[in-house]
Amino acid sequence: MTIYIPEDKISEIKNTANIVEVVSEVVILKKTGKNYIGLCPFHSEKTPSFTVSQEKQIFYCFGCAAGGNVFSFLMKHDGISFPDAAKILARRYGIDIPVRTMSPEQKQRMSQRENLLAVNRQAMGFFRKQLLDAVSGKRAMGYLKKRGINKEIFDNFNLGYALQGWDNLLSFFKKKNISLALVEKAGLIVPRKEKSGYYDRFRDRLIFPIFDLNMQAIGFGGRVMDDSMPKYLNSPETPVYNKSRSLYGLNLAKMKCRENGRVYIVEGYFDLLALHQHGFQNSVATLGTSLTPEHVQILKGFVGKDGKIILVFDSDDAGIKAVLRSIGIFMRMEVDARIIVLPEGYDPDSFLFEFGYESFVDRDSNARSLMSFLIDSAVKKHGLSIEGKIRIISEMKGPLSSIKDNIKRSLYIKELAECVNIDESAVLEKIRKLSVRNRDKAIRPTMPNSFLGRGQNKAAFPDKIQEKSFQGKWGRLERQIIAMMLQFPQILSEISERNILNLFENTVLKSIGQVLLKQKDYSEMQASDIINIIEDKEQKNIVASLAIEEDKWDYEACIGIITRFESIRKKNEKKLIEKIKVAEKENDLELLSKLLRQKQKLALLTEKKKMTLLR
Ligand code: CTP
Ligand code: MN
Repeated sequence: MTIYIPEDKISEIKNTANIVEVVSEVVILKKTGKNYIGLCPFHSEKTPSFTVSQEKQIFYCFGCAAGGNVFSFLMKHDGISFPDAAKILARRYGIDIPVRTMSPEQKQRMSQRENLLAVNRQAMGFFRKQLLDAVSGKRAMGYLKKRGINKEIFDNFNLGYALQGWDNLLSFFKKKNISLALVEKAGLIVPRKEKSGYYDRFRDRLIFPIFDLNMQAIGFGGRVMDDSMPKYLNSPETPVYNKSRSLYGLNLAKMKCRENGRVYIVEGYFDLLALHQHGFQNSVATLGTSLTPEHVQILKGFVGKDGKIILVFDSDDAGIKAVLRSIGIFMRMEVDARIIVLPEGYDPDSFLFEFGYESFVDRDSNARSLMSFLIDSAVKKHGLSIEGKIRIISEMKGPLSSIKDNIKRSLYIKELAECVNIDESAVLEKIRKLSVRNRDKAIRPTMPNSFLGRGQNKAAFPDKIQEKSFQGKWGRLERQIIAMMLQFPQILSEISERNILNLFENTVLKSIGQVLLKQKDYSEMQASDIINIIEDKEQKNIVASLAIEEDKWDYEACIGIITRFESIRKKNEKKLIEKIKVAEKENDLELLSKLLRQKQKLALLTEKKKMTLLR
């Protein structure tokens, strides 16, 4: 299911796109020497090991071994295909991909994802037009006015209106001859239960398009304009809309989040609009679902390692619930999370419109850390009777033991001990028991597997799976040779003439080397081109890892390495042959077969040699 993008367009995109720019959108990069480094978006880390090379147009993470070029970065980060990544880049850099010249077959092969996005885009335009032009759109406009939303905001968020009636959007798509199955897949129409056919999901509702980071509409929310139920209706999850990764408003908030190093999280559509309208553009909304590790990871990428994530909740009760739900995530991911609690009966929307900017800033400067908020709430809830204190401590020991940082943990334990006026060591004792248990559990990676996505687990745990095969002098020398081939193409003819790859033991490195030798004009190419040619994900990672290291090569040094590799291999071969001869003489068949197997593994043994040896 690939979209056809002409080869020359791919190379135009490749030559225009700048990996540093593209990565910068989601990772804060710092320049160090020739490269840029930042916190890896593909695994959880505190010290940056994610490296981007402007010159080579590749990235590599020394922590989780993910690597590739600008296309693979987008594919991995957004979970999309190569053609989708190419399209996004083309759009971003204003490169026209001639869609209209596609043959009918090619059209049919257009990826489903791209089709769904196109359907959403058209629906968004349709809703928008109804808000601005339709007679009944006036009511929606009036509703927005009543809620104080100004034009700039509803333009920026591309709000719309779904007309009353069961088949407005349906007929719109019918007229356009667009597959209704596709529109259903996009969640915009619903199949009728009794009869055949469909009806519109959103009817007589104010429409909030939900965007991804590339400004594509991936889903919709719709609000009624009276008291009918349900108040909000949302798109179901679709191949393009993953609720646990999407944050409403992030497309407009991302740059501000980066500038300020902080982000506000609210629950609702109007809360989010209100924050943006009052100048807090570094705000996103979770839209009624609870915060996931994916959300936090994405936000961390924008606010940075020392950034703050600030939850804004309506009342103590809602706040406590939200904190309890998400505290494990924040602790595990070591995020400085705070909470702003608004007075009872107010949500961010009503608070801002009633009390204004200054009051919010005031609340913000008094934002509490999640832990002291919880301690405080527990004290309020249980009181300070002996029984109350026991309850408080048992309620707090879970959250406290989930704090990984020892110093932080002991500071909060101290705070708790002071609050309830109990000896610190008694509290400590309670907590320690649990911490030990938690720590045992924490040996596995802190990220849930679901976050790593399919096929990425391997890259995320390089120690176990990948490094093994690169250790020892074999692995190291073979790696060095491939790195040299990648970075110093002048050496390729030497490698090929001396048949060096045949001496390779590591089959993965060997096949990368073979791909390199096959390129007629590799000296004209970059490592990032090789990454495009290679299909295997693991191999892409390895190429990136070998190409990104800053090595200075000169001809002589290269020849030195090659010669050393050859001679070690030959020496080893000789030793083995000696041993084999002895084993033969002593008729030790068991040892002999073991040695022969070793020999075979060395990949040095041609069939002929084997025959002579056995004779
Ligand atoms: N929500 C939803 N479906 C519902 C109710 C709520 O998806 N039936 C989500 C919406 O994203 C909503 C958020 O949860 O914005 C918070 O809900 P709520 O506090 O009930 O609404 P408000 O955001 O305050 O909505 P409004 O101000 O428009 O009344
Ligand atoms: Mn509200």
